[in-house]
Amino acid sequence: MARFYIETYGCEMNKSDSIDIDLAFEHKGYKPAEKPEDADVVVINTCAVRHNAEERIQGRIGYYKSLKKRINKKQTLVVTGCMAQEWGKSLIEKYDNIDIVTGTYHTLDIPDLVLKYQYSREKLVKIDKDSYEFSGFKGERALGFSAWVNIIKGCSNFCSYCIVPYLRGPEQSKPHEEVIDEVTRLVNNGVVEVTLLGQNVNTYGKDNGDISFIELLEKLNKIEGLKWIRFLTSHPKDFDVEDIRRIASLDKVCKQFHLPMQSGSDRILSMMNRRYTIKDYLRLIDAIKKYNEKYSITTDILVGFPDETEEDFQHTLDIVKKVEFDDAFMYRYSDRPLTKASKMGNKVDKEIAKKRLEELIDIQRKISYKKNKMEIGDTIEALIYRKSKKNKDEYLCKTANGKMVVVETKKPEGSFIEILISGISGNTLRGREISIKEELRI
Ligand code: SAH
Ligand code: SF4
Ligand code: F3S
Repeated sequence: MARFYIETYGCEMNKSDSIDIDLAFEHKGYKPAEKPEDADVVVINTCAVRHNAEERIQGRIGYYKSLKKRINKKQTLVVTGCMAQEWGKSLIEKYDNIDIVTGTYHTLDIPDLVLKYQYSREKLVKIDKDSYEFSGFKGERALGFSAWVNIIKGCSNFCSYCIVPYLRGPEQSKPHEEVIDEVTRLVNNGVVEVTLLGQNVNTYGKDNGDISFIELLEKLNKIEGLKWIRFLTSHPKDFDVEDIRRIASLDKVCKQFHLPMQSGSDRILSMMNRRYTIKDYLRLIDAIKKYNEKYSITTDILVGFPDETEEDFQHTLDIVKKVEFDDAFMYRYSDRPLTKASKMGNKVDKEIAKKRLEELIDIQRKISYKKNKMEIGDTIEALIYRKSKKNKDEYLCKTANGKMVVVETKKPEGSFIEILISGISGNTLRGREISIKEELRI
């Protein structure tokens, strides 16, 4: 029985693509290998969003070269995803141990390409961009009780620093009937939580004249048996106050808003081609907080964008302190090929950008701690996610607004429990499972 092993880098979209690749192999009779040494086929699903992601992946390609030599000369190496789309043939030219390169549009073709390669032993490169095939593995795309559902692929925004639109092509929405069918099947197979995915879910339906994202949420909210709906990512320019009002009234939609801000300076936001001002952004934040102070708001921030001055950076810090995000993903700007920003002058010195990033991370860490501490004493419903690595009786549980809490419980993964958030160690919340009676006493 042939075995495959998949190694994944990058965003949720890529992790979701890897589930499809996995299912595509299993449907062809392959079995997953526990470790790469045991695999006949290794797939590296790559990311190209920052230079250091590509460096790490190149290191892994080097590792597989030695593995092939030492353990299995016949092992087939496939490189797929965003970096494969960017590099194309030149990947094979640089690394002679790669056998197949497939881009972002051809992840589902991988098992067929492997078969073709193993028959002919001729290296293959497939990076043409036609139209996306959404996964056909509708009810199977779940690892148990929680599932990702891709509702829109590609990105048409062209933020000036970002390579994604060049690698994943223009936005393409999955027809809403298919989304509803897929979620219904998942729920029938035991899924209680779905996360809708897209580089910008809020433009759902605009490319093909389908219903809007909020209308889609309203329809999904009616699916019986489904408990929680999450979504990722929203571009602030496509979110408005009215959308927030409608989302606030949907009981299954988790009140967790990931709104990448990128910078606190209007001058930089305009150079980034983000198409909103800080005033617009704060209007959204205020609207969310107005509904409920406890709604979670997270963000992405990019520091060291070309020509970012100390003053621009101060604006970013000021907004971070003002908004008090629950959490943030923070990055140092990295030049990417094809992008407008890579051709801009006045690049920020690497050491200065590093220092800015450190300062920002330090401030945000304290804010996250403060926000987490404010949860202590709350009773809240949580979904048991997975066993803790440190203590076998403890589980990591997720609350509706996306906080992870460590709780001791005897219930199985995938169950909902009531918890009392009791404390915090490091930046991790700890909780206690409570019975309904106990809750009433409190
Ligand atoms: N579609 C999402 C995020 C995509 S990439 C969105 O619009 O928010 C995830 C994050 O990577 C971005 O939010 C940005 O902060 C960061 N990023 C993108 N290009 C980058 C670059 N060239 N250098 C450093 N970080 C980058
Ligand atoms: Fe990149 Fe901007 Fe598209 Fe996000 S919205 S993927 S940052 S171009
Ligand atoms: Fe990376 Fe591609 Fe996602 S570049 S962040 S894997 S869309």
